[in-house]
Amino acid sequence: MNIPSIFIFIFCCLQLISLSSSLYFHIGETERKCFIEEIPDDTLVIGKYKVELFDEKSNAYLPSTPGIGMHVEVKDPDDKIVLSKLYTSEGRFTFTSHTPGEHVICLFSNSTAWFGGQKLRVHLDIDVGEHAVDYQSVSAHEKLTELQLRVRQLLDQVEQITKEQSYQRYREERFRNTSESTNQRVLWWSVAQLFVLVIAGFWQMRHLKGFFEAKKLV
Ligand SMILES: *[C@@H]1O[C@H](CO)[C@@H](O)[C@H](O)[C@H]1NC(C)=O
Ligand SMILES: *[C@@H]1O[C@H](CO)[C@@H](O)[C@H](O)[C@H]1NC(C)=O
Repeated sequence: MNIPSIFIFIFCCLQLISLSSSLYFHIGETERKCFIEEIPDDTLVIGKYKVELFDEKSNAYLPSTPGIGMHVEVKDPDDKIVLSKLYTSEGRFTFTSHTPGEHVICLFSNSTAWFGGQKLRVHLDIDVGEHAVDYQSVSAHEKLTELQLRVRQLLDQVEQITKEQSYQRYREERFRNTSESTNQRVLWWSVAQLFVLVIAGFWQMRHLKGFFEAKKLV
């Protein structure tokens, strides 16, 4: 993969429980940071982020930085761009996956500072699947009782687990395809080796026969 980033964090988060991740990281103003997130088919992903600019005078990160915008770029496993947008210094982006697999999420600021500029701290929170649904607002909007909301939540969880399982099946199939093709290549390599050996044997025999005949030894 051709990602112009220095660090790539890999979230391997197909454990069904911990599909939400929260962290912060530091980047230079002109740097770009990419994350790889494994996402099943047809799944909603919400990312929330907040950027803080380092202030040398107070030696701390400023809580708000209105002049800075963040580019968010998401690519699907076929390298097609799913989302590419300029947001403000704090906000959220959402997208829905259409192909299962590793999605690359890249963040970089729109700063034009040369030579790296100042340090930025980016808080990032990615929610996948039913973790991305805000049940509080669903409940308020559709006037559901506690029990109805809980059932709804459970149904969503079941659906998400089904998607995860079909994604695992897809991965297994891809892995098997790779193994099979490796196997086949190893077989052909052995056949080619055998062929070369037989040819070399024949040639040596003929050559030696000619040699002995020329020297009148037989
Ligand atoms: C970066 O984006 C922010 C927010 O959209 C905007 O206010 C600012 O002018 C942009 N800066 C540059 C250098 O384009
Ligand atoms: C695996 O190989 C089969 C047959 O060659 C093909 O139909 C299928 O699409 C492949 N699966 C993946 C995930 O590449």
